[in-house]
Amino acid sequence: MSTPNRRILVTGAAGEIGHGLVSALSSDPDVKLIAIDLRDPGEAVREHLDDLHLGDICDRGFVENVVTMHEVTEIVHLAALLSTRAEHVPEKAHEVNVDGTFNLLRIAAEQALSFDRVVKFTVPSSIAVYGLSPQEKALGGKVGLDECLRPVTMYGANKLYCEALGRYYGRHYRSLTHDGPPPVDFRCLRLPGVLAAETKPTGGTSDFVPEMIHAAASGTPYECFVSEVTCIPWMTMPECVESTLQLLQADAVPQCVYNVASFSASAGEVEAALRTHFPDLQVTYEPHPGRQAMVNTWPDDVDVTAAIHDWGYEPRWNLESALSEYIVPAVRRHYAAH
Ligand code: SER
Repeated sequence: MSTPNRRILVTGAAGEIGHGLVSALSSDPDVKLIAIDLRDPGEAVREHLDDLHLGDICDRGFVENVVTMHEVTEIVHLAALLSTRAEHVPEKAHEVNVDGTFNLLRIAAEQALSFDRVVKFTVPSSIAVYGLSPQEKALGGKVGLDECLRPVTMYGANKLYCEALGRYYGRHYRSLTHDGPPPVDFRCLRLPGVLAAETKPTGGTSDFVPEMIHAAASGTPYECFVSEVTCIPWMTMPECVESTLQLLQADAVPQCVYNVASFSASAGEVEAALRTHFPDLQVTYEPHPGRQAMVNTWPDDVDVTAAIHDWGYEPRWNLESALSEYIVPAVRRHYAAH
């Protein structure tokens, strides 16, 4: 049997995006799928993988071994500590989010140079890179890619730096001495809050809406940790997976980093829309001061026109259609089966 042309390494495969992404990637016969995670991702992920390596992305020798052993051509780096979790262990978060990404970028560059072939690299970034002042937040509306980049969280600071690090490896690597194209083709999606019906998030600060959805479907009262008016941009997990694959597969793109989001909605708006599907939904609002303060620095919405223009990103759903066409049927199926 011939070796597949695309040999893709996915880190953090056990996480929420990992679940969706590995199953989408495994349908391509030209892809060999290799995963790294600290823990076993379970059968639902494992069944789609050609190989699984359990270990730490901060362990350079381990990662180097995996990348060279499989002659990896693309890396999708999902392993990260999200914003709430990162505030409890900021130094650890820096290690995983920054050192882990640096490790992988460095290994990707070495791999590219030794095989004389560019390695594609993508890592999700986040709306946490923004840090709006109360006045800027009160203005509402769409925030551009280069505006208000003053993150207040360790996670946001880590992600903003990783965008810059990726831009360095992807556009400016060893600019004084390196001839030829940069070794890494770096592409990054700045994600909004992501809504998955089949998995529950942990450790994020945008978790209030996914938690509300899962509480609605499981008939559990929900105490929301931010106020009713708290508003950020969102997309569904199928849109997140599709746009990640679309960006990975696009021809050369002019920017390294793109905003994506489908709709903007507050906790109260989601509650009202969810109630039309789950009339018994019980939600109370008990804002946690720290988590509320973090989310208050994130934009209500982001400008996605560059993604639409440069590689055909298409926001598929608004709040109502996302609920009726994906979230509600899928979350009902999920709770019927579990
Ligand atoms: N979902 C992330 C978090 O809540 C933000 O992008 O940390």
